[in-house]
Amino acid sequence: MRIMVVGGGGREHAIIKYLSKSPKADKIYALPGNGGIAELAECVNIKAEDLDGIVKFAVNNKIDFAVVAPDDPLVMGAVDKLEAAGIKCFGPRANAAIIEGSKIFAKNLMRKYKIPTANFEVFSDLDKAIEYVNNHALPLVIKADGLAKGKGVVVAETLQEAEDALISCMRDKKFGSSGEKVLIEECLTGPEVSVLAFTDGHTLVPMVSSMDHTRAYDNNQGANTGGMGVIAPNPHYDFNMAARCEREIFMPTINAMNKEGRKFKGCLYFGLMLTPQGPKVIEYNCRFGDPETQAVLPLLSDECDLLEIMLAVSEERLSSVRVLFKWDCASCCVVMASREYPDSCKTGFEINIDAAKIHELNNVNIFHAGTKLNQDGKLLTSGGRVLAVTAVAKSKSISQEGVGDALAQARSDAYNAIKYISFDGARYRSDIGLH
Ligand SMILES: Nc1ncnc2c1ncn2[C@@H]1O[C@H](COP(=O)(O)OP(=O)(O)O)[C@@H](O)[C@H]1O
Ligand SMILES: [Mg+2]
Repeated sequence: MRIMVVGGGGREHAIIKYLSKSPKADKIYALPGNGGIAELAECVNIKAEDLDGIVKFAVNNKIDFAVVAPDDPLVMGAVDKLEAAGIKCFGPRANAAIIEGSKIFAKNLMRKYKIPTANFEVFSDLDKAIEYVNNHALPLVIKADGLAKGKGVVVAETLQEAEDALISCMRDKKFGSSGEKVLIEECLTGPEVSVLAFTDGHTLVPMVSSMDHTRAYDNNQGANTGGMGVIAPNPHYDFNMAARCEREIFMPTINAMNKEGRKFKGCLYFGLMLTPQGPKVIEYNCRFGDPETQAVLPLLSDECDLLEIMLAVSEERLSSVRVLFKWDCASCCVVMASREYPDSCKTGFEINIDAAKIHELNNVNIFHAGTKLNQDGKLLTSGGRVLAVTAVAKSKSISQEGVGDALAQARSDAYNAIKYISFDGARYRSDIGLH
């Protein structure tokens, strides 16, 4: 099969790595790909948001199967356009991707179908929103409705923070049209859990749970980022909780989307908070998370073929394929970022990787996010998040407490691998998986 993957970050590198293991994968293109993906796929310089360019490329190159990984093209309707051109896709159509594209849509869906989530109000008028925060107890959570590159949410502890967030969103248009409407939510507490799930709109298969670390610095200090590291499985999410979430959240969401005439096919991401009142939805994403994918896909059983799973999702026969995970293993993914990240970064620094030493570690994957190859074939930094270093380890004794020993081993292996990687300004958190 001739396959095209839209996107060019660490998530896409992980997806392509596992797709490329399939005997059915004859040729893979990445649009635009990156320096690491270039080892596995042909990178084509078309941006993930250039929908017309993507469709034209797919048609001209006789693509059999397209995987659209990032949020922007999905919400913009990349799958609809590709399907209209006769190309089979993995990923939701725009009318289902709205579950991420509009947080207000998602909240109204949950309210209508009684899916547990934080209480909320919707505002399109700045004065009314300010009046509301003045009359309610803090903290409150202020969210821009639309896509905002992970920067559209403020957990406001003070009135000043709440008002500033509303003003920059609604008056100063910090997020453009994404912030014209806002949500003001009740602030929940509890551990956060991410669960990615394959679904074809009928069957839903959750993957191993994970825990993201979004703050820039150790001890959860500093600015919010796209994610500085992930562990999987999430130690707070046991089998009982998984069963409960499936019953109270996952299947009700699939059913709700069907009832609305918005069948969701692809990877649905549940951002959950395990509150004292039970699990609640913080948000949905309409695609694989980044960097969750880099920690979760390495836990897919070696007997499984990611391409077969994705094809089955697309053809609505997910129940006919086996999707197995290494439940006796844990993974730890540590992001190596550029010095200034999450602010805008200086790039173009040479990356040195001691491949022989990393190979000796044997269970380590280096997924590239912001890297590119120069004309001489040298690997250079090209973005804020540069590499995602993932180690997988197997538990010697799975217990009630899960695979804690495996997590400790995976952590130590990931940090060992990092010792063999260097570039000017390289920065990473040293506490992934410790809290
Ligand atoms: N209702 C809430 N109560 C407490 N914390 C929240 C709430 N909503 C969001 N958060 C915090 O803000 C983060 C970002 O919010 P989220 O809705 O996931 O938006 P995005 O990922 O699009 O930025 C969450 O991971 C969580 O830590
Ligand atoms: Mg989120």
